[in-house]
Amino acid sequence: MKVPNHIAIILDGNGRWAKAKGMPRGYGHIKGCANLETICDDIKDLGVKYLTVYAFSTENWKRSREEVEGLMKLFRSYLKKCMKSAEKNHMRVKIIGDPSAFAPDIQDKIRQLEEFSKDYDELYFQIALNYGSRDEIVRSIRKLAADVADGKVAPDAIDESCFENYLDTAGVPDPDLLIRTSGEQRLSNFLMWQLAYTEFYFTDVPWPDFHKKELIEAIEKYNARDRRYGGVKEE
Ligand code: FPP
Repeated sequence: MKVPNHIAIILDGNGRWAKAKGMPRGYGHIKGCANLETICDDIKDLGVKYLTVYAFSTENWKRSREEVEGLMKLFRSYLKKCMKSAEKNHMRVKIIGDPSAFAPDIQDKIRQLEEFSKDYDELYFQIALNYGSRDEIVRSIRKLAADVADGKVAPDAIDESCFENYLDTAGVPDPDLLIRTSGEQRLSNFLMWQLAYTEFYFTDVPWPDFHKKELIEAIEKYNARDRRYGGVKEE
């Protein structure tokens, strides 16, 4: 099976999955988090080089205080555990998004994990936390504008590849396949620049039930597609 170089996943459906079991939403997030650890192992086994997941959006702060607090608790334990996963899978971890809104100890854990894993190169894992694509683009423009004002970049030198260097995902190839679980068919402000040519795969399976079998199914569907990029299809 030919695997995509970069898979992006919108982890959706933890809450509905839990509700269907008569459990609180937080239980769904705990199971979703455990599933993320397993999927990282599966992705590595399959030979995918880049994985990016949408774990917490700039909009998710609007959820109930109880749910947000539960998620923060989960991030704390996950970021710590992720070091083991990084070591096992020789996986470099990077957080994309704006970490400045998180509590200082979470920001510290993010820095520690990124520093700890920075020399691994078998799997590159990006976790989107307090991420929104519009926010990322605006932050990038701000950095680029500062460089223009400082005379480091000439306005005429700004092209797509120059701009990409200012995004949170600088240096990472665009995703080949985007998977969204749990039935919704929208981007929800995720990687809008980077997904310009990406194949989309939507499944009704909620994130806590999305396992290796479902992942392989998504990759097979992707392989069966005819990717053209606006050029002429090869006969
Ligand atoms: C979407 O389900 C999920 C989230 C907003 C949070 C994602 C979090 C995890 C998978 C666990 C933690 C991840 C890390 C990186 C530690 P939802 O709550 O929107 O579900 P619903 O659409 O059914 O309500």
